[in-house]
Amino acid sequence: MPLTNWSDILDKILPDECVEQVICNQFVEPLLEALGFNAQERRPQFKTGNGADKVDFAVRYNKDSDIFSKSQINPYLLVEVKARATGAGNKINLAEGTPQYLAARQQIKKYLLAPKCQTAQWGIITNGVHIQLFRRHGRIVIPATNNEIIKKDNITDIVTQIKNLIENPPKALTISVYNNKGGVGKTTTTINLAAILKKQQKKVLLVDFDSQRDLTKSLKLEVGSVSLFDCLTDKNLDVRRSIVPFSPIGKKGKPVHLFDVIPSDIRMEQLTDNNVTATIQKGSARLRDLLKNFVYDYDYIIIDCPTQWIFFSQSSIYASDVVLIPTKHNGSTSLYNAARVIKDFIPEVKKARNDGGPMALSIFFNGEKITDPQLKVTNAEIEKIIKEYGINLLPYYWPKATPGNVDKTIFSIPSYATVANAAFSHVPAVLLNSTVEQHYLGFAKEYFLYG
Ligand SMILES: Nc1ncnc2c1ncn2[C@@H]1O[C@H](COP(=O)(O)OP(=O)(O)OP(=O)(O)O)[C@@H](O)[C@H]1O
Ligand SMILES: [Mg+2]
Repeated sequence: MPLTNWSDILDKILPDECVEQVICNQFVEPLLEALGFNAQERRPQFKTGNGADKVDFAVRYNKDSDIFSKSQINPYLLVEVKARATGAGNKINLAEGTPQYLAARQQIKKYLLAPKCQTAQWGIITNGVHIQLFRRHGRIVIPATNNEIIKKDNITDIVTQIKNLIENPPKALTISVYNNKGGVGKTTTTINLAAILKKQQKKVLLVDFDSQRDLTKSLKLEVGSVSLFDCLTDKNLDVRRSIVPFSPIGKKGKPVHLFDVIPSDIRMEQLTDNNVTATIQKGSARLRDLLKNFVYDYDYIIIDCPTQWIFFSQSSIYASDVVLIPTKHNGSTSLYNAARVIKDFIPEVKKARNDGGPMALSIFFNGEKITDPQLKVTNAEIEKIIKEYGINLLPYYWPKATPGNVDKTIFSIPSYATVANAAFSHVPAVLLNSTVEQHYLGFAKEYFLYG
């Protein structure tokens, strides 16, 4: 394939008044060509199946006689293109955090989740000035690159980065379950989410990265033939050997494999923030490297974190695509701590990672009965938090709220005796009680599963 002359291309789309069609023809088409999609593998103005919605481009590699531009089914990557300027001459600014950027992000998410785009795994938004790749996993759409400013001296690197990602799509979504507050249900959520995802035929790996070892103990497991703790420091160890199967005895009296676990090692207690730099070369980036070995095998990798913002929780979030934040409605501490996770801790990791991730998911309430008067008090507290931390926090507390409709629904998992007692029976509660099962299924569908 001839080398793309990006310098010429960028000169052509340089004028500020460049309209969308010019960006499409002069920039996006050569971009798609450079990403490996020829003219027959592209479809402009692709109908997403959601009303009259059309995305500017859908693309997919042809398969034998299935020519995408003709069949127009099963797209792989979508591209939403914006002009550099509106007709009125106002610049369309796709810089991070601008209203136009947030709207474009919402738009690509909506398209990726539309009926005819179920196979689409990637989305790009660009106006020729900015460009960002997003990845879709089930219901989740996450940044897969930074929102980059396109320049002549970085465009080749940006294209190479996008090409590498879309040619080697990871299978797994990596989730940290974290709140900077104890006893909110982090471990309980991790275990039951894993069990319900397994019931939906998903392949799940759990990582107990809390030296408290609650998850490991609750499933009655022991460290495998290699300890993840040792893998942090010793590059010669095979991290695959740290995995142990969780196979409780099923109805027929035989072990049934549910999911895999990397148990916690009691020696993790020895590792403190003071000695971590001396011991672990890449610090909190090391776990991500180790877990990369599993992202092509599992559908979900879920990490149970300790409460404090220490090496283990920092490593977990560094290794994750998304952070799931359990809270309790009664008592404002877990709600305030969630805000710290979203506004302080995740951005800190995002800056260090420099690849667009990780991303917080909206909070949920866990394990308490909520009466209407209590909910009023809680919502007033959330309003205070949003005022203090900024309006950008709103979608993380009230994800269903829109400018015209302040819907304050927050997903809630009630308190169940079966859940509270499950640690003693060493079996996830969702396997013991159908009401609990239904509730966690609703939870998995709300956050992760598509369809
Ligand atoms: N939905 C629920 N119904 C009943 N009990 C629950 C529920 N969720 C959690 N619990 C109970 O609340 C307690 C705390 O839960 P869990 O250990 O999962 O929290 P955690 O955030 O992991 O705590 P830690 O900060 O110690 O790691 C446990 O005894 C657990 O059984
Ligand atoms: Mg815990």
